[in-house]
Amino acid sequence: PEANKGYSYEDCKATADWLLAQTDVRPTVGIVCGSGLGGLADMLKDQVAFNYKDIPNFPQSTVHGHAGRLVFGTLKGRPCVCMQGRFHLYEGYPIQKITLPMRIFKLLGVETVMLTNAAGGLNHDFKVGDIMIIKDHLNMPGFAGNNPLAGPNDERFGVRFPCMSDAYDRELQQLAMDVGQELGYGDFLKEGVYCVLGGPSFETIAECRMLHKLGADAVGMSTAHEVIVARHCGMRVFALSLITNQAVMDYDSEEKANHEEVLQTGKQRAEQLERLVFTMVTKIEHN
Ligand code: 6GU
Repeated sequence: PEANKGYSYEDCKATADWLLAQTDVRPTVGIVCGSGLGGLADMLKDQVAFNYKDIPNFPQSTVHGHAGRLVFGTLKGRPCVCMQGRFHLYEGYPIQKITLPMRIFKLLGVETVMLTNAAGGLNHDFKVGDIMIIKDHLNMPGFAGNNPLAGPNDERFGVRFPCMSDAYDRELQQLAMDVGQELGYGDFLKEGVYCVLGGPSFETIAECRMLHKLGADAVGMSTAHEVIVARHCGMRVFALSLITNQAVMDYDSEEKANHEEVLQTGKQRAEQLERLVFTMVTKIEHN
């Protein structure tokens, strides 16, 4: 049907088959790198990389700090595929297009998806540079009808009304805590609820206060949509936020959210965040 144009099962399959024809890597782990966190893709061995613009049916990223490459390779022998740069609502894409790569991951054979993002801290116990294991999300665009699963449902991907109470895999959260302790990250490894907004404007003070009251620990502009689509088609999900700045909650604060600060903090903690994901990947069991 017209509503599925460009996003149908057949379209996704064609893209996945096009990719599989050009690499011997058969990824079981799919990784999505957030703003300033693309270094993980560079850790892959035996790389086969594609610019988004060269992949049939793939959207293209426009944001500064996002490379726009899909990289296949291995991490300690584990076959992976990694998005270096992702797509956001504020770029103006339909939400189905933003999340299309999750369905392509699925058709490539991916079983576990690991996502990272840069986020603003709302929890008063968080500091800039903390890494937050996402245990749950608030999907604000979804409240307003902008859910990536809106539209006709194709049962080959998943059910019409998928459960989201188990969206973030508990075992993987525990693994992250264990690996984090092992790596000496205990002081800055936290857990919490991620709230997604459409962006691109940052939040007002009133909005930050509201989100905090609603139970959000961090706020950003990505990830939750991808998680919904990944869970719909039955992949396991793990996600991390790097707290790149504190969301402004006080009228007498001098601070202002800005993209440069986000990228700067990303640079400082990126290596440790990448090490955490890398080590987790080497410990994930697949059937
Ligand atoms: Cl403060 N807000 C949002 N929406 N996204 C962010 C952020 C803040 N910091 C990094 N990403």
